[in-house]
Amino acid sequence: MKITVADNSGVCFGVRRAFSLLEEAVENAKKNGAKVFMLGPLIHNPRVIKQYEEKGVSVIDIGSIQENSCVVIRSHGITKEERAKLDRFMGITLVDTTCPYVQRIHQLVEKRSGEGFAVLIMGDREHSEVKGITSMISGDFFVIHPTEFDSKNGELCDFIKAHDKVFAVAQTTSRPANYEYLLKKARKIAAELPGHRFLAAETICTATLKRQDSAGELAKKVGSMVVIGGKISSNTSKLFQVVSEKNKNSFWVESPGDFSASDIEKLKNSETVGITAGASTPDEQIEEIKSFLGSVNG
Ligand code: F3S
Repeated sequence: MKITVADNSGVCFGVRRAFSLLEEAVENAKKNGAKVFMLGPLIHNPRVIKQYEEKGVSVIDIGSIQENSCVVIRSHGITKEERAKLDRFMGITLVDTTCPYVQRIHQLVEKRSGEGFAVLIMGDREHSEVKGITSMISGDFFVIHPTEFDSKNGELCDFIKAHDKVFAVAQTTSRPANYEYLLKKARKIAAELPGHRFLAAETICTATLKRQDSAGELAKKVGSMVVIGGKISSNTSKLFQVVSEKNKNSFWVESPGDFSASDIEKLKNSETVGITAGASTPDEQIEEIKSFLGSVNG
């Protein structure tokens, strides 16, 4: 079995930055005797979160914060209301790991909504990144997920027609083809409305794009593909979607224990296996799967 790891696999710039800020916070807290709290899991990778819990970091919600502690804001960002609540606590040290690409969307929607634009967001309204984005909007907004393009088509038309100025953004982990489709549709509606202004920003993260492109290319060439990453990770889910469209023998695992006996049989029958990993998957987890596949092989 020949094992190939796709280019651009694993931890992205934003998550690497978040890890390094968290490490720094843990070190400083040790010196000062302060407790470190993660406001929700820093990333969607349960194994990594468990490792930090073992180092004394607690994952909490905003209601459980203690004064004089260190509070780490996750890379997906928080809402404006959550930040205002945090500001009311005495003596807490805030470590903000919000990815700069997410911060950019916050700034864009805040500015455009301040100028009177209604905001169209493509993404998952239940995802913390989208909740953070919508909290920065002062006016009207509409969130649509690609799976709702048909069912919410009427609502989308009504939203665009109800506003003279509409500004569109996409969740960082979105698939570009979906965003292009939405923008084409929205621009067509806007073009029929005299004086309507429709603007859109490119907000899809290039780390996600590169990861998807490299994994998709590799998936076409190998017998099986293994995608590594948390089952609750949005970017890993999209990576798996891209890969499994190109290769029917695709598996999504967090650790070697997730492979079933029949998965292992299929892998054994593949002469070539490709590996890719989501943006919140550390290098050690990739190495662990690589050596597991090597042992299956042997
Ligand atoms: Fe940021 Fe992109 Fe990673 S948005 S957290 S660099 S996937």
